[in-house]
Amino acid sequence: MKARGRFTNRFGFIAAAAGSAVGLGNIWKFPFEVANGGGAAFVIMYLIFCFILCFPVMVTEIAIGRKTEKDPVGAFKALGFPRWNFIGKMGVLAGLLILSFYNVVAGWAFGYFVQLTFGNFDIGDNFGEYINNIGRVGSYGAVFMLATAYVVSKGISGGIEKASKILMPTLVGMMLILVIYSMTLPHAFEGIKYYLIPQFQEINFKVVYNALGQAFFSLSLGMGALITYGSYVSKNNNIISSAALITISDAGIAFLAGLMMFPFVAYLTQGAVHTVEGGPGFIFQVLPGAFESMGPMIGRIIGALFFLLLSFAALTSTISLLEVPVAYAVDELKVNRTYAVWFIALFIFLMGVPSLLSNGDSQFFTNFVTYIGAEKPTNFLDFVGHIGSDTLLPLGGFLITIFAAYVWKKNNLNEEIETGYPGFKGSFVEKYIDFAVSYLCPTVLGVIFLLTLLNRFFGVEFF
Ligand code: PFF
Repeated sequence: MKARGRFTNRFGFIAAAAGSAVGLGNIWKFPFEVANGGGAAFVIMYLIFCFILCFPVMVTEIAIGRKTEKDPVGAFKALGFPRWNFIGKMGVLAGLLILSFYNVVAGWAFGYFVQLTFGNFDIGDNFGEYINNIGRVGSYGAVFMLATAYVVSKGISGGIEKASKILMPTLVGMMLILVIYSMTLPHAFEGIKYYLIPQFQEINFKVVYNALGQAFFSLSLGMGALITYGSYVSKNNNIISSAALITISDAGIAFLAGLMMFPFVAYLTQGAVHTVEGGPGFIFQVLPGAFESMGPMIGRIIGALFFLLLSFAALTSTISLLEVPVAYAVDELKVNRTYAVWFIALFIFLMGVPSLLSNGDSQFFTNFVTYIGAEKPTNFLDFVGHIGSDTLLPLGGFLITIFAAYVWKKNNLNEEIETGYPGFKGSFVEKYIDFAVSYLCPTVLGVIFLLTLLNRFFGVEFF
């Protein structure tokens, strides 16, 4: 049998896993969640959730993957609990759903890179028209999916690892250039102040819920992406310190994204940061105007750099989203990697077509469902996001921790972590992971899952 592929070293694994974590979530979503959630008060909560709640889940996923050297479905079987492999199947489904809409947004970002390279600053005002030009955004999306599939088809060390080792350091470099440049803009300081001064009175239950969901999605947890990547890691890898580095990179990049974005907004609004409505369209509608006012040449460079950065961040995430179903097809269904990659990529691209059409082009997909108690219909793209990321990920995280603590059992989890980290057993970290995986994570994630279900789909008001 052909060997399964492996990361060649620790840096390769961390670059790939941090690449999965750092994505549209950090740069597209995080800053507007901050803007809507009390500035630094949100940032502080987000950081706490990343380390207290998400970190133990990440450690568990990596340990399950490394122990079994299997895809998320095969992993549960390999541990001797085939009935629990439905968790892995749910993860594969979540991967398909998330990638189908994520690729659409990544395609928009890549298209903006092309448009701004050619100095088309009006694109922000014409965002509605832009996303409804299916031929054009469809082609950008197709290019993005092709790039993703190409990398994944090259395997673990020659594809995913190699691409991540190039893309991640480049991304950090571009980010630093943009942060430094944004600091030199007029009114930058007002933006930073808005970002870094906590407004605790803005915090309510809804904001806490958003911070939790954002941290979980941002760290790519709950669908077995890290079980999959963990299965390519060597036994002498220290899972605890690797997971810590991945978490720090992800939180650090989200933080830097805020440092870059708020000065841009302050510059554009001449200091009146609070007047800008944060929302999903924000980056696409508002930022091109800010770039334009930097002047034709600088604006073009900074604008193109920004959207290239966003595209790179998205690419390392789409790679991991595609790798989950591909690993399943390769390990369980014994399909050749190249066939699996191209077939699944095409399938997901087609699954994304309704999302592409759901911003006005097709009335059916634009007004796709009206949830119980909701005033307005939800379009297809948002609907897939609500199912794939908001519902299936916390449910997956809940089940993975329940499984690890009560079915596989903690001593087995500890045993796996100890391999590569002698001295783990009996340490404070072990006690914390034990507590979190047995009680804290299942409780919090179970509650998030139920709240999402009841609130989002059935109109029960909690907040
Ligand atoms: N973490 C990615 C982001 O923040 O954009 C999204 C993501 C990638 C979620 C991979 C889940 C996943 F398995």
